Amino acid sequence: MYRCMVRLAEQRWHCSVCCFSTAARKRRALRSAFPPLEQPLLPVQRHVYEANLRNSNACWKRYVELSEKVKKGGGENAIIRHTKRNKKLLVRDRLRLLLDDEDFLELSPFAGLDLPYGDIPSAGCLTGIGRINSLWCVFIANDATVKGGTAYPITVKKQLRAQEVAIQNRLPCVYLVDSGGAFLPLQSEIFPDKNQGGRTFYNEAIMSAMKIPQVSVVCGSCTAGGAYIPTMAEETVMVHQIGTIFLGGPPLVKAATGEEVTPEDLGGARLHAEVSGCVDHFAPEEEEAFERTRNIVSTLNFELPEEDEQRAEEPLYPSDELMGFAPKEYSHSLDVKMLISRLTDGSRFQEFKGRYGTTLVTGFAKIHGHLVGIVASNGELLYQAALKGSHFVQLCDQRDVPLLFLQNTVPAAAPTHSVAQAETNTNCIKAQGSMMSAVACASVPKITVVIGGCHGVDSYAMCGRAFDPNFLFLWPNARVSLAAPGSSASLLPPGGEHEGDLEEMLEEQSPAFFSSARLWDDGVILPQDTRKVLGQCLDIIKQQQYQLSTQKLCSPLLRV
Ligand code: COA
Repeated sequence: MYRCMVRLAEQRWHCSVCCFSTAARKRRALRSAFPPLEQPLLPVQRHVYEANLRNSNACWKRYVELSEKVKKGGGENAIIRHTKRNKKLLVRDRLRLLLDDEDFLELSPFAGLDLPYGDIPSAGCLTGIGRINSLWCVFIANDATVKGGTAYPITVKKQLRAQEVAIQNRLPCVYLVDSGGAFLPLQSEIFPDKNQGGRTFYNEAIMSAMKIPQVSVVCGSCTAGGAYIPTMAEETVMVHQIGTIFLGGPPLVKAATGEEVTPEDLGGARLHAEVSGCVDHFAPEEEEAFERTRNIVSTLNFELPEEDEQRAEEPLYPSDELMGFAPKEYSHSLDVKMLISRLTDGSRFQEFKGRYGTTLVTGFAKIHGHLVGIVASNGELLYQAALKGSHFVQLCDQRDVPLLFLQNTVPAAAPTHSVAQAETNTNCIKAQGSMMSAVACASVPKITVVIGGCHGVDSYAMCGRAFDPNFLFLWPNARVSLAAPGSSASLLPPGGEHEGDLEEMLEEQSPAFFSSARLWDDGVILPQDTRKVLGQCLDIIKQQQYQLSTQKLCSPLLRV
């Protein structure tokens, strides 16, 4: 008996030693594969750092101002009308009931601000990705305090982008519908073209065919085109007294037939749950509607992995320092490795081709435990840098490693004054062209963060919007324009009469908030939040691996 116990104890000890040594071996391998980037701020860099910091603080202030503005939706009167008269919950309260927690990734909150046709806070519709029963889902939620939730051109664009995010990342999609349909004064910009109103419904059909689950909650009006969102979703919950679905409301019926009818009788929850069958679940209150929606999501048949309890190593340097690395202008760019060392786990980085084409930095790192291939601008995208970029992107594609682009491109192309320069430029164009091909054709997920400039052709090779990254964010200091302000002279013939106008235009149209208002990106993020946002994006991207029974069955439908 005693001998048995000793043997058992020996076996256990041996086993624990084995386990320990495997874990320790893994840790050791990780450490030697990804050595830390020692990148402290040097005294000689301090004045650039301080100038960047002052600019970043001003940008941060603007960011906070705009965030507060958009959180008020359509303003105080509209909020009172929405909550007191119409007895509906505000859109952010609805999200609180729908999602597991408030730690969701909101997309493009500044879309719609200061447009030629007015200020449309959050484009009248909140979109983003949040967890429901631990599953990442896209949400598209109308804010009816903004002109009755009607769809402006920018609203349509935002909804289409959210659907695209769902398609690209194979995420379930939940629609919270509370909309008066098209914003009629702008009907010509909403209705007829390919990427306008009808595309939302087309996408719904395509997403269903791709087995991307879609659930809708009717928690307000679904008038005219809006009526098709719940009817085309796979499962719909409708709230009593609040939700209505009809093509034309009671005033239209009265005008057409002279008949007086209440919204409830014409297209309320009872009618659609009991008579038309347009909806699948009747909810007496909003709270219950969101509870039901969460229950529906639990039947979507995704098998998520166990949460990894092990916390990722934090970078060696505080993330606040990133504010001082956000270049106020191109001439204030510091070595991009300083920035990388403040984003990656343990500041670790395995550089690729470190001595070649050094105006581009490439290499592997982990962010919140996810392996990524980093492609970071560190100067002009010259011939060697572009060749290196193509090579590295293809490598990541072959190994199935997601790509992270940190973009900071030159303000404008340098003028060509000699034959030798022309030859260099030609070679460079060829190499940049092949990098663009590599980026466009890489089938791995891509995330782009514009940390400085987004100008000219270099921005395409660095996976700008046209190159379809899964997510594209801007830092508030970023500038997005064909050429940066101050470089208009290089775009026009010498002494050109329009130089002054162009300069003014570049100054006005290049700020990050101008871009984000027009949905040329997925939002402005603060430098100090970047590591967290990247961790969320990589987690979201990874989820598609756990979707059951769909990948094999779906036909190779094209992206929208
Ligand atoms: N186009 C443009 N503006 C519209 C609109 C539309 N389709 N529907 C509503 N609005 C505006 C209203 O004029 C009002 O503007 P204001 O704040 O400047 O006065 C604002 O949106 C809110 O509308 P209101 O009716 O006061 O709010 P509500 O919460 O009581 O009702 C709706 C909202 C959307 C249910 C109701 O306005 C409605 O039924 N609108 C018509 C919907 C329709 O027929 N759409 C057809 C589209 S093809």
